[in-house]
Amino acid sequence: MGRLRTAVLISGRGSNLQALIDAARDPTYPAEIALVVSNVPGAFGLERARQASIATKIVDHKNFPDRESFERALDGLLREHKIEFVCLAGFMRLLTPAFVTPWLDRLINIHPSLLPAFKGLHTHERALAAGVRFTGCTVHFVRPATDDGPIILQAAVAIRPDDTPDSLAARVLEAEHQIFPAALALVAEGKTRIEKEIVRIEGHNPPGPILFNPALN
Ligand code: GRF
Repeated sequence: MGRLRTAVLISGRGSNLQALIDAARDPTYPAEIALVVSNVPGAFGLERARQASIATKIVDHKNFPDRESFERALDGLLREHKIEFVCLAGFMRLLTPAFVTPWLDRLINIHPSLLPAFKGLHTHERALAAGVRFTGCTVHFVRPATDDGPIILQAAVAIRPDDTPDSLAARVLEAEHQIFPAALALVAEGKTRIEKEIVRIEGHNPPGPILFNPALN
C-alpha cells in the first residue's frame, strides 16, 4: 500500500514540519510529506521543505478579500496535488467549517498545551501564571472550534520553579517533535478510530507510574 500523501500547513519557523520531514525520510514511515503550504511568504519552514526537495506553495491570506476565498484557494491546491491528509504545524490562521468539514478526520493539529487546558495563544505564559505543575502538548483531529477535537496523543512536561515562558516552550517543543510524527504514523497506519469524538488506538499502551511534581519523597 502507498504512503499517505500528506500536506503540512505552516506559517513560520517550521520545526514541527522538520520533525515530520525527518520521520518521513524512513521509507517504512506510513506517510510522505508531498506538499508544504505557507500563508506567510518568508516562512523559514519553506526553506526546510526546499532543502528536502518537497514541493512548496504560498497562499498569502493578504491577497484574498475574505476567509472563504483564501480557504477555497487552499483547498483547491491540496486537491490539485492529490493530497489525502493535512497536518497543521504552527499554521496561524483560524479555519472555518467551510474548509474543516470536507477534510474532517483527515486534518490534525499540534497545540502546545495539554488540551482542553490553555486553548489559543501564549500557552506557556498562561500555564506559568496558573501555577500548574504539568503542561505539555497535544496532537488532535481538527474540528471547527479553535484547538478543539478528538485527542490522538499528548505528552506531559513537568514545570520547574525557575521556568520562564521560553525555557518551558523549549522543553514542550522537544516533546512536540516526538508526538507529531508519532501521531501521524498512528493515523496513517489506520490504528486510530474515532468513537463519539474519542480516539481509540489499536494496541494503546499507557505509560506506567503516576507522576508527581514536586516529587514525593
Ligand atoms: C508550535 O509550538 C506549535 O505547537 C504551535 O506553534 C508552534 C510552531 O512552531 N501551534 P514550529 O513552526 O513548528 O517551529
